[in-house]
Parts: sequence; C-alpha cells; structure tokens
Amino acid sequence: MLIAIISDLHANLDALQTCMAKIDELRPDDLICLGDMVGYGPNPREALDVVMARCSKVLLGNHDEALLKQPVNFNKIPREALMWTKTQFEGEAYRRYLDYLWTLQPLLREGEIVYSHGMLQSNVNYVEVPEDVLFIFERMTVQERVCFAGHSHFPCIWGLRDSSLYYIEAEEAGPIELGEFEKCWVNVGSIGQPRDRDNRSCFITYDTEKRAVTYHRIAYDVDKTAQKIRDIPGLDNFLADRLYRGI
Ligand SMILES: [Fe+2]
Ligand SMILES: [Fe+2]
Repeated sequence: MLIAIISDLHANLDALQTCMAKIDELRPDDLICLGDMVGYGPNPREALDVVMARCSKVLLGNHDEALLKQPVNFNKIPREALMWTKTQFEGEAYRRYLDYLWTLQPLLREGEIVYSHGMLQSNVNYVEVPEDVLFIFERMTVQERVCFAGHSHFPCIWGLRDSSLYYIEAEEAGPIELGEFEKCWVNVGSIGQPRDRDNRSCFITYDTEKRAVTYHRIAYDVDKTAQKIRDIPGLDNFLADRLYRGI
C-alpha cells in the first residue's frame, strides 16, 4: 500500500495545488495530512477545502488548534498572522471549518505507524536534539515501528538500531528503506513553508510493504503566494520573503 503524507500547508494554496497534481500522478492508496493547515499563509479556507475533500486522516496542528483557542508560544509575526486568520473564519458561513477542526486530534496510532504533528505528547514542542527522538521512541509501543511527524518544516529521518541513533538525510534520490531500523522518526517536511533552505514544497510517499520512504520536492509559484501575502496587511512581509529562501 502506498500512502502519501503531507503536512504544514500553512494556507499556501498555490503550493498545495501544485503538490496535489503530483500526488494525483502518483496515485497513492491513501492521503494523510499531519496538520497546520492554516497560519502564515493567505488562503486558509481554501487549503482546508482541499484537505477536507481529499485526506482520509487529518491531524490537528498547533496553528489549527490556535485558531480554535488561543496561540501558545507564538512570536509576534505568527501571532499576528493567526489573528488575521481568525478573521477569515468569522461568521456562520465559515462555522463548518471550525466544527471540522474541533473533531481532529494531534496524534493518531494505527498498527505499526504513529502519526503526530509535533512531539508525541504535544503539538507545540519540537524535536531539537537526539534525546528528543529517544523520548519519542521510548513512548512508542513495541509494535509501533515508525512515527511520521511534521511541525518543524525540516525533512529528515532518525532511526534506532542496536541502541544507536542514526540520522538520515531527506534526499530525493530514491526510496529510503527503513527496514533495518527497530524504530524510525520521519519528518515529512512542509508543503507551504519549507525551512531547510530549499524553497520547494516537500511531502513523502510511504510504501508499507517495503517500509520505504520517498521524499518529493515540488517547485511552485512562490511569486504568486508571496504577492498575496504582501497584499494582506495582517500578514507580515517577512512571511513572503521567507518562502523564497526556504527558511
Ligand atoms: Fe507548521
Ligand atoms: Fe506546527
């Protein structure tokens, strides 16, 4: 079975539509979204429309949760962007989006796979040091082999073998086989705001039989999204600039 996993769309509809065209070509059996559909970008409702129509499983990211509640640990620019995003969901006409978000969870466990937006215990915390990966592995059950996560917008893989941790670069060059590892943590990267100095969108496909991850990097019309951001006073221009630099 081939699963496509997307994350951190951040209301970047142009990036999302470009990636969906590629996903349609790949014809996965399932499409899963690890959260942060909104925040930072100019098209939060449209991004949610795509996810609600196309994804079989969707997680609640910290930006999605902040839309329902209040921002937690947000700096000035993301906080202001979130406040603008809230205005896009005001009124009964848009209530269905919020009703949908209220049904979502930040963590989903399914057989040998764990899907999580950020760390297992929170969709706010980041994996910053190798000990954070061990922390996650210790909280996976014996049968859980691989955890797919988003949130940091930085694609990479950590694997555990014979009590040692291995870091694997998220290269596009072909399937990365996880079979030799007892446990793996796979960051799928970001559709809408990549931060690994590559401004192309990132998502993965996972072959469950081969236990193999393939990273896909997709160029989209950054100019178009950046201009939309600049045209919205509630979104700081830095949010447009960073898209070009992949930071
Ligand atoms: Fe995010
Ligand atoms: Fe996040």
